Amino acid sequence: EKVHRCGGAYIGGNIVLTAAHCVAGVDGFATRRRVRLGTQNLRVPGATFRIADWKVHPGFVNAEPYPHDIAVLRIVADTPEARRLDLRKHAIRMLGTRPGDLPVARGDRLRITGWGRTKARNSGQAQLARDGTRNPMSPVLMQISQRPDPAACAMLPGYADRIADKTICAVSELAGSDSCNGDSGGPMTRAQGSERVLVGLVSWGRGCALPGMPAVYTSVPGYLDWIAGARGALGRR
Ligand code: ARG
Repeated sequence: EKVHRCGGAYIGGNIVLTAAHCVAGVDGFATRRRVRLGTQNLRVPGATFRIADWKVHPGFVNAEPYPHDIAVLRIVADTPEARRLDLRKHAIRMLGTRPGDLPVARGDRLRITGWGRTKARNSGQAQLARDGTRNPMSPVLMQISQRPDPAACAMLPGYADRIADKTICAVSELAGSDSCNGDSGGPMTRAQGSERVLVGLVSWGRGCALPGMPAVYTSVPGYLDWIAGARGALGRR
């Protein structure tokens, strides 16, 4: 029986992007975890994939604020359900991979999706909501909307030392809405014409949905070169 741990973004070519903190420090990572793809409701049976190989960014530090919080996974269809899934339909294009892509800018509406914890919580214990009740993950995919707000992260400890353009700092307009534990590694996207492009990955924040508190995302355009190198270096077995 598998439980949900983290999100990820499928970018095509059997490659999934996720947060480094979802991978590093997990012993037996590739044998203990699988990638589920193509379903929104985790309670219904779905297709899961074996993780054949993975790379964590060499600059990642497994302590908040998780610098370089990015990893690539190579997935392999090793079940009938996975083999039946047409992976091409599930790929998202990364921002910055086409000429004319506009960088993330103030005023953009950014969508974050995930199956993570659903209630506000203080920093510290991930399992408990702010009011002391349990803070369950969502069996169905949830989505929120945030806007980039670079200045809002200045208040976060450790954030100021980070390299700008490697992260996206974002705030919700709707009080009580945020990404949270369990959403990590999942996609932040932006509408561009009729498509949605991948702009970020859920990384960290202080607690979840605390009033005025921003959330930090790994900037996908900031890591295109690393992603290209890392995916090329992944083994095929
Ligand atoms: N990595 C974080 C955690 O385990 C979740 C990331 C998002 N947090 C946030 N407040 N937006 O709690």
